Amino acid sequence: MQNLQADTVYNLEQAASSSPVRRICCIGAGYVGGPTCTVIASKCPDITVTIVDINPVRIAAWNSPPNPKTGKLDDLPVYEPGLADIVQTCRGRNLFFSTEVDKAIHEADLIFVSVNTPTKTSGIGAGYAADMHYVESSTRRIAEVSTSSKIIVEKSTVPCRTAASMRQVLEANAKPGLQFDILSNPEFLAEGTAITDLENPDRVLIGSLPTPEGQLAARKLQDVYARWVERKRIYTTGLWSSELSKLAANAMLAQRISSINAMAAICEATGADVTEVAHACGLDKRIGPNFLRASIGFGGSCFQKDILNLVYLSESLGLPKVAAYWKQVIEMNEYSKERFARKVVSTMFNTITQKRVALLGFAFKKDTGDTRESPAATICKLFRQERAQITVYDPKVPHHQIYLDITEPGVIDDTEAAKKQVQIANSAVEACAGAEAVVIATEWDEFKTLDWEAIHASMKKPAFLFDGRNVVDAKTLRKIGFRVHTVGRGPEIVDPVWA
Ligand code: UDX
Ligand code: ADP
Repeated sequence: MQNLQADTVYNLEQAASSSPVRRICCIGAGYVGGPTCTVIASKCPDITVTIVDINPVRIAAWNSPPNPKTGKLDDLPVYEPGLADIVQTCRGRNLFFSTEVDKAIHEADLIFVSVNTPTKTSGIGAGYAADMHYVESSTRRIAEVSTSSKIIVEKSTVPCRTAASMRQVLEANAKPGLQFDILSNPEFLAEGTAITDLENPDRVLIGSLPTPEGQLAARKLQDVYARWVERKRIYTTGLWSSELSKLAANAMLAQRISSINAMAAICEATGADVTEVAHACGLDKRIGPNFLRASIGFGGSCFQKDILNLVYLSESLGLPKVAAYWKQVIEMNEYSKERFARKVVSTMFNTITQKRVALLGFAFKKDTGDTRESPAATICKLFRQERAQITVYDPKVPHHQIYLDITEPGVIDDTEAAKKQVQIANSAVEACAGAEAVVIATEWDEFKTLDWEAIHASMKKPAFLFDGRNVVDAKTLRKIGFRVHTVGRGPEIVDPVWA
């Protein structure tokens, strides 16, 4: 690339294919880096992909052997439908998981930076700004150990203009004569559907500088994706647009959920049915039917974090009204969770103290074991404050994680008290036995087909069911004898007699 003369008209396509990407390093073996680079390895057998992480436990789990009984990789650190099979095919062939960060950086010609960017918990911007410490330390590592030019790709969601900071760190610390081209290539996969999202993305977004070097780097990355993604779905933009598009897309998706949840509150007060309202609105092509499921609120590692980031960015840019607009999406989400918990308490005769409540689902959505910002954790904490006895069941979340999420490690250690108040069951049926109420917090498919008659028989009466995800067939359950409350359906639909 150094041989390119800036003023020479050259053929980008040819230049890219004359030195294609052969070795990829992915820094960060988490929910984004792990699945993304596994799929790249499976689609590009001629590219060696090494995923590295400073966390040896995580890497050991990625390298864990198949379960002797099932022959499957059951102990990977990230659960995603279809992921284990692909790891099994590619691992040791052209896919490697390692703690040798420096070696993988040194050997790579393209590096994905897929480290975490959590919301800052202290200092300037605490509670809003992204903690960029992990991005900066990986950038410094790249500068330190590189002895050849590299393409560096921001995969983590980062604040707008992060590439400029990375460039400064690289230029100030790298060996002379090396060239680093920084690209932005945000990941839009959703957890639970990561593999299908990666294999068949709506779009791949690549942002670069408008320089010949930037364009060439972008073309090389396009060529990686073009092995399985149609070129017309690969959209190239400027760096800052690409960085901001990720925040914008997540903010708009979260805004849709807060909007339908706000409608759900109106529905419950008026007798309208939010599923009918959502369907009616979604029939308008301009609105579309997706992402309009009313719920107890959104969770996950991205929506809240990215909106807070956007709020911070807007404030820093002197745009307080813009900041307040986006902040309202989060406030509505908090309100949705609290409103649901309040409804449980008020419906159960204004007290759940000492009552046994079965909490079905703890992950922030189905088909993942991830609990980051899970509404279930908020609901569970609120029930704890009401001094209920809670039994949690989730098919994928490890038990220790549930206790971590409902206590405040490092603030007050009330794990022992939590263990007395919150039990964890191994099945939904076990969780519901003897309970006075069932609360569905995650939309796991198995909740649709439980033996609800048997569950009803095993519960105290009246048996309440609060469906925070609108997954069960309320009519059938009412026939069984449950007092069913769902999100966004008016009183006469909920229960004409008792409402
Ligand atoms: C999101 C974005 O969808 C993805 O593009 C981005 O890369 C990361 O953030 P994720 O958080 O994994 O993905 O899952 P998503 O399916 O978006 O769900 C987020 C939350 O919204 C979940 O708690 C889900 O239950 C909730 N949700 C989603 C609703 O309450 N209603 C809906 O209609 C859709
Ligand atoms: P995400 O959901 O964005 O993938 P995760 O927290 O699941 O976030 O994963 C990020 C990973 O990045 C973690 O496993 C963390 O250990 C790793 N990481 C953070 N900083 C570095 C670093 N400097 N070098 C290597 N790995 C890092």
